[in-house]
Amino acid sequence: MITPVKFVEGEKVYLRPIEEQDLQLIYFGKNNPLVRETLFLFYPITLEQVKQEITTYITSKENLYFTIVEKKTDIPIGQTAFVRIDYVSRMATYFLAIYNPNYWSKGYGTEATKLMVEYGFDILNLNRIQLHVAVENQFAVRAYKKCGFIIEGTLREAMYHHNKYCDFYLMSILRSEFYKMNVMDKKIKYKKEKK
Ligand SMILES: CC(C)(COP(=O)(O)OP(=O)(O)OC[C@H]1O[C@@H](n2cnc3c(N)ncnc32)[C@H](O)[C@@H]1OP(=O)(O)O)[C@@H](O)C(=O)NCCC(=O)NCCS
Repeated sequence: MITPVKFVEGEKVYLRPIEEQDLQLIYFGKNNPLVRETLFLFYPITLEQVKQEITTYITSKENLYFTIVEKKTDIPIGQTAFVRIDYVSRMATYFLAIYNPNYWSKGYGTEATKLMVEYGFDILNLNRIQLHVAVENQFAVRAYKKCGFIIEGTLREAMYHHNKYCDFYLMSILRSEFYKMNVMDKKIKYKKEKK
C-alpha cells in the first residue's frame, strides 16, 4: 500500500495536494444543498467543470489548494486554499469548505485553518491573510476567530440569498498578530519535542 501524502499534518486532519480521487468529493459538496447554502453557490456544477476548475487551480501560481483529509481514516473531507495570492503585497485570500456535512462540528475546520495560517506565515512569508464570510455563518466566524482572525468591517448586502441581501464580514489576520499570538504556544511545543 502507498503511504498517504501528508503535506501539513495536524492532530485530527492533514492537508495534501489535490488528487484525482477528490473530484467526486468536490462534485458532491458543491452540489449539496447544505454546503451550497453556506458557500452561496447558485448553479449546478458538472463533474467536467469540477475537473476544469481543478486544472486551473493546479496550473495557476495565484492559487494554492489543498485537500483536507481526516487523519484517522485517510478520508478526504474538504478543501482549503489561498486564492489570489499577491506576492508583492504578500497577501492572500483564504478559502475553507468541508464538503461532507457528516464531518462538520468535529473541530476539523478550525484545525485546517490553524494549519493554513501557520503555513501561510511561517513558510510562504505572507503578511496578511483575509477572507469574506457571511455574517450568518456563525460556525465559520467562530472557527476563524479561534485562529486569530479579527472582523475588520462589514460588507453590507454583499450577496443575495433567499429573498434577502446578506451582509458579509471582512476578516483578516496579520503576520505580526500571528507571531505575538503564537510565541507561548511554540515555546511549549518545542519544549515538549526536545524531551
Ligand atoms: C464552516 C466550517 C468550515 C466550520 O468547520 P467545522 O469543522 O464544521 O467547525 P469546527 O468543528 O471547527 O467548529 C468551529 C466552531 O463552530 C461552532 N460549532 C460548530 N458546530 C456547531 C454546532 N453543531 N452547534 C453549535 N456550534 C457549533 C463551535 O462554536 C466551534 O467552536 P468551539 O470549538 O469553540 O465550540 C464547516 O462547517 C464548513 O465547511 N461548512 C460549509 C462551507 C462553509 O461554510 N465554509 C466557510 C465559508 S467562509
